[in-house]
Amino acid sequence: MVTHYLNFADCSAEQYAQIIARAVQIKQEVKSGERRARLAGHTLLMLFDKPSTRTRASFIAAMTQAGGNAVELAASTLQLNRGEPIADTARALSAYGDALMIRTDAHSKIAEFAAAATCPVINGLSDLSHPCQVLADVMTYHEHRGSLKDKTVTWIGDCNNMLYSWAEAAQLFECRLHVACPPAYRQPFPGIIFFENAAAAADGADLVMTDVWASMGDADIEARQAAFANTSVNSTVMAAAAKEALFMHCLPAHRGEEVTADIIDGAQSVVWQQAENRLHAQKALLLFLLEQND
Ligand code: CP
Ligand code: NVA
Repeated sequence: MVTHYLNFADCSAEQYAQIIARAVQIKQEVKSGERRARLAGHTLLMLFDKPSTRTRASFIAAMTQAGGNAVELAASTLQLNRGEPIADTARALSAYGDALMIRTDAHSKIAEFAAAATCPVINGLSDLSHPCQVLADVMTYHEHRGSLKDKTVTWIGDCNNMLYSWAEAAQLFECRLHVACPPAYRQPFPGIIFFENAAAAADGADLVMTDVWASMGDADIEARQAAFANTSVNSTVMAAAAKEALFMHCLPAHRGEEVTADIIDGAQSVVWQQAENRLHAQKALLLFLLEQND
């Protein structure tokens, strides 16, 4: 059976401990100028139905640094775009690629790819989840503060793909996940606790996170601007959190909307470490998946 990475819950806490330890080690190698060709001759095929900066560039860099290749297949040029079934596409691509990375809208499309692929399929973001980003987030927290166990993570914003993956992470690593989200946009993700406002959700938090009010594909942008107007991370919200609290954002960010500039560009923010860790964490993930499927 092929091991895929479609959701954060696809790996156990023990497997994450291995993947993150390896990512930290690989990061140190890269920092000291070392490039080990652990994936020489390997190809990652990538399909993007939505825009991307970090996911695209970090997977390209991860494969290149490891001696392999990442190749993007322009979605509009594929026969998939002319009606070829996902399953047939997945089967053919599995013959050429050692792994497939897909960013799309409906999560069911990625699941369909995985059901037919004979190589690992990686979710590079779907409407449901964004596990690769949360892997980098967890690695970043680990580097700064160690274990998430019994910590309070606060999410200020939409109940979106990022929060879904964080809900899975919180269950796996046994931390609390406190959420401030306007009632109309709440989703019953497992284990999350809703609060009436951002400062109440952030009370005593060890980590405060947010994301855009409107995700890629959300059409109701104006309605969201109005509904989320009081759902921002600002200095009042950060003052409610623990003194040592970190601030995270998966990026891209809208300063003045979900976060104020003084917070995202301030001392508690680790957003650039998160972005960098996409590279190291995904390289370790690729090694893990390819070893599982040897
Ligand atoms: N955080 C993230 O996935 O960024 P991109 O959309 O730029 O890939
Ligand atoms: N929730 C955002 C994440 C972008 C990386 C989106 O889906 O657009």
